[in-house]
Amino acid sequence: MGFMDSRLIHLENGTPIRLRNPGIADARRILAYRKKEAHTHDFEVVTAEEIKDDEELQRKWLFSYIQEPNKLCLIAETLDPRNSEVVGMLDFYGHPWLRLAHHGTMGIGVALAWRGRGIGRALIQTMIDWTHRHPTIEKIYLGVWANNLRAQALYTSFGFIEESRRLAYFKLDHGHYVDEIVMALWVKDPLRLAYLRSS
Ligand SMILES: CC(C)(COP(=O)(O)OP(=O)(O)OC[C@H]1O[C@@H](n2cnc3c(N)ncnc32)[C@H](O)[C@@H]1OP(=O)(O)O)[C@@H](O)C(=O)NCCC(=O)NCCS
Repeated sequence: MGFMDSRLIHLENGTPIRLRNPGIADARRILAYRKKEAHTHDFEVVTAEEIKDDEELQRKWLFSYIQEPNKLCLIAETLDPRNSEVVGMLDFYGHPWLRLAHHGTMGIGVALAWRGRGIGRALIQTMIDWTHRHPTIEKIYLGVWANNLRAQALYTSFGFIEESRRLAYFKLDHGHYVDEIVMALWVKDPLRLAYLRSS
């Protein structure tokens, strides 16, 4: 995993939230968070029913993130010592193959009760800071549902731009299709300029 020092942020009302890399021991809490939150919005690829209640599988997933330097996982959590709650999560999947090692794809979610308070922005900023120090990552990709305007506004504010659109990429159970917009951010600008000059 790409490692980041843990960060403490304060929401507008003063509530402290810690951002950190999760360890294997967080598997149960992360699984509970994913199952609970999958019901709260329409923009999740995996439905709540499809998330396996399998702690071992979640541990393996976390372990792959811990082992591989082109991957990053961050959780946001409350600081209550007796009942610290996971309230947000970001993962960045970078490829080990050399010709793909200059980019990766991120996914993000914040718990319903905690949205619109700056946690998503803080998670993304932390990932971007990590990429600045990363030896190979130059570009971050993400895929967002075309009707998810709130998330798009957040990504655009960081400088992500639309690169392409995959038509009817998602199919909902009532037969309705939604496009996916692929957005990207060049995190090391001089490299982007070098690319534009050579193309
Ligand atoms: C999208 C999501 C991750 C953003 O996280 P968040 O913690 O709610 O976002 P923040 O509070 O940091 O908000 C940051 C920006 O989001 C946008 N935003 C927040 N609330 C908004 C609202 N009600 N309407 C429109 N835009 C809004 C704004 O651009 C805001 O910018 P600001 O910081 O200048 O105010 C979160 O809302 C979420 O998990 N949504 C459901 C799952 C999802 O859509 N995941 C993304 C899949 S691609």
